[in-house]
Amino acid sequence: MIKVLKGMKDRYFEDIRKYDYIIDSAKNVFSKYGFEKIITPIVEETELFERGVGEETDVVSKEMYTFLDKAGRSITMRPEGTAGVVRAYLQAGLYKSDPAVKWFYYGPMYRYEAPQKGRYREFHQVGVEAFGVRDPFADAEIIKMGCEFLETAGIKNLTVEINSLGNSSSRQRYTVELKKFIEERLDKLCDNCKTRYKKNPLRVLDCKSEACQEQYKNAPVLKDYLDEESSTYYEELKKYLELLEVNYVENYRLVRGLDYYSDTVFEIKSENLGAQSTVLAGGRYDKLLEILGDIQMPGIGFAAGTERIALLMDESLMKEEEKPVYVVYFPETKEYALNIIKILRENDIKVDFDYGMKSFKSQMKKAGKLNSKYVIILGEDEKNENKAVLKNFDTGEQGKLEIEKVIERVNGDV
Ligand code: HAM
Repeated sequence: MIKVLKGMKDRYFEDIRKYDYIIDSAKNVFSKYGFEKIITPIVEETELFERGVGEETDVVSKEMYTFLDKAGRSITMRPEGTAGVVRAYLQAGLYKSDPAVKWFYYGPMYRYEAPQKGRYREFHQVGVEAFGVRDPFADAEIIKMGCEFLETAGIKNLTVEINSLGNSSSRQRYTVELKKFIEERLDKLCDNCKTRYKKNPLRVLDCKSEACQEQYKNAPVLKDYLDEESSTYYEELKKYLELLEVNYVENYRLVRGLDYYSDTVFEIKSENLGAQSTVLAGGRYDKLLEILGDIQMPGIGFAAGTERIALLMDESLMKEEEKPVYVVYFPETKEYALNIIKILRENDIKVDFDYGMKSFKSQMKKAGKLNSKYVIILGEDEKNENKAVLKNFDTGEQGKLEIEKVIERVNGDV
């Protein structure tokens, strides 16, 4: 038997109910903040991610699903949503007419990672991107919106971590110092860090090797290299977060795994997720539009993994699904039943029944299994009188009624 690919999952029943609940919560919260939906393709030119996310990142260098299409072009299944949304923004030319755009999106992403709890090769993100504004108040509001979204899913005990990666000149001064620090202990680092630090020293700080992390404990921190503009921006961000009553902790070692960030970065974490503790993460990317489109335009956003949210969410918040009314019939009343079912559905009643000719007992059993509140029984007497027996499973009450009365009773109740 052919099975689903490693690190991927079929989703049905409960998983779908949770996914829909998460998406509905996202739509409700994001639309309150003026965000509109965007859909971009799942595959993009490989170069978009190489240039946008950064060739030195784990995501691009190790984890992409990249292949040649029939015309020999290198294309990639998107590992994240930001690069595609930025491409769409640039391609639509919105920066010329109406640069302040706020978009949200959701859908599958692909990363060839070692699967574990909360980490899959196909996963789903809900994300937002806001273009055209560079103001710490916007950053604070986006972080607040992320918290509100997770709260609507009933997730508690979350920690918001923030940091500043500074503007490019602050980062340049910092990387000179960081490089020196790394060179002093090069022999104790893994092969990956040994080569990676030359092109992108910041990236080594999120190396997964414990031995490397031990070495980086006393590495210089970016915060001490922020210039006045970046450090004022960061101080203002904290002020606005306090104003919006967002509890946060500062994590000077938070660098994020993607290259496009500058100034504000943040992650929302949960203790209940094990190693993959980050539920929602994002930051500002004021140079990304220049890298991809030669346009000077600021941007900020975040994304959250729906699988991680589903592991943490409070399921009791999900509304009980409306159960179908179950129609029970007999061989002699099949055609009568099909007509009644049609009328019920025309009156917005959710109906289920068995196509195969099962016994009365097994049809009633199926109704019980589906948790139907009402059963409609259509026997020969009912057919002759153009009526139906309506049984309320909750109360045990039952009676023979005209079809209009059945509709009234069921619709009045649901
Ligand atoms: P990211 O930190 O790579 O950021 O991913 C964001 C979130 O996606 C993670 O916090 C996690 O919940 C989920 N996630 C990532 N990888 C996996 C995986 N293999 N399995 C399950 N869930 C996963 C980004 O993707 C940025 N595009 C976020 C952003 C938007 N920054 C600015 N705008």
